[in-house]
Amino acid sequence: MNPTEPSSEPSIASFLRGLPKAELHLHIEGTLEPEMVFALAAKHDVTLAYASVDALRRAYDFHDLQSFLDLYYAGADVLRDEEDFYAMTSAYLRRARADGVVHVEIFFDPQTHTERGIGIGTVINGIHRALADGERDLGISHRLILCFLRHLSEAAAEATLDLALPFADRVAGVGLDSSEAGHPPSKFERVFARAHRLGFARVAHAGEEGPADYITEALDLLQVSRIDHGVRCDEDPQLLARLARERVPLTVCPLSNTKLKVYQQMEQHNLRRLLEQGLCVTINSDDPAYFGGYLVDNYLAVQRALDLSREQLVQLAKNSFEASWLDAASKQRWITAVDNYAARTSAA
Ligand code: HPA
Ligand code: ZN
Repeated sequence: MNPTEPSSEPSIASFLRGLPKAELHLHIEGTLEPEMVFALAAKHDVTLAYASVDALRRAYDFHDLQSFLDLYYAGADVLRDEEDFYAMTSAYLRRARADGVVHVEIFFDPQTHTERGIGIGTVINGIHRALADGERDLGISHRLILCFLRHLSEAAAEATLDLALPFADRVAGVGLDSSEAGHPPSKFERVFARAHRLGFARVAHAGEEGPADYITEALDLLQVSRIDHGVRCDEDPQLLARLARERVPLTVCPLSNTKLKVYQQMEQHNLRRLLEQGLCVTINSDDPAYFGGYLVDNYLAVQRALDLSREQLVQLAKNSFEASWLDAASKQRWITAVDNYAARTSAA
């Protein structure tokens, strides 16, 4: 290689950082870095099960979804007051901005906090204030999605929706997360129908560890506008054809999938095949503090493992806006911005 030429790796990374992108699958509690866990534990006089930041980070070695969730819920225990939720959300937004993220649709898990006696208003107000400040200071637009924990009952989800109603102006939609296997979307049909009637948009995790049938249930019973993960759709050819035909977005999280052993190696990931079959695939970071990377790290990991072209990376960024809950004019404006950026950088 000519030594005056930059190697292609750094240039792809800087191309990706400059590419306008939306992030649509991000659990805000999954952005809590070990350093902040320790700082908040000290602030609230909480004793942690780990001696140091490094020891906690070393424990992030998962073999499936449940082994991750156990640590994720334990980590969230240090979030006690509104300022903690504000600090966590602000830190994520600053990190996202450095990755060229211009719009976020983020999840929070109210039951993880209300079960510990933290008021839902403390949670929502802290997160929302950081989102509003992030919009003003960093230019990142946002939507907030309340997730029901699917290992708990539908009655508990109904009670959580009731608690959230006084804050409905800050919550754009509802979602469904936590342990998937054995907790099908059908378990939450009534609470999703009520959320629909109340005007909330809807998404659900499906087809991460659970079967392709759960994706079909989420679409038909919960009336979701996109599927979180959804990678197991390729086990059902009819479903695959439907997702392509209807352009149902999938919010795919590559580093999460390899960390939680949905795929043993990134080279086995089906993201490129799904994209080439015409599905509206997007790339997201899920729980970046636990899975070893934020949004650009996820783009880079699949680009390297699956040898994605520049055109495919540009398509993924456009898909992120198409799949978002932005209004039609804003979507178009960002898709045009992506096209302009691609044209400008290919000429350089
Ligand atoms: N799957 C299910 N529940 C979750 C996840 C996930 O990837 N992240 C946080 N809660
Ligand atoms: Zn998730």
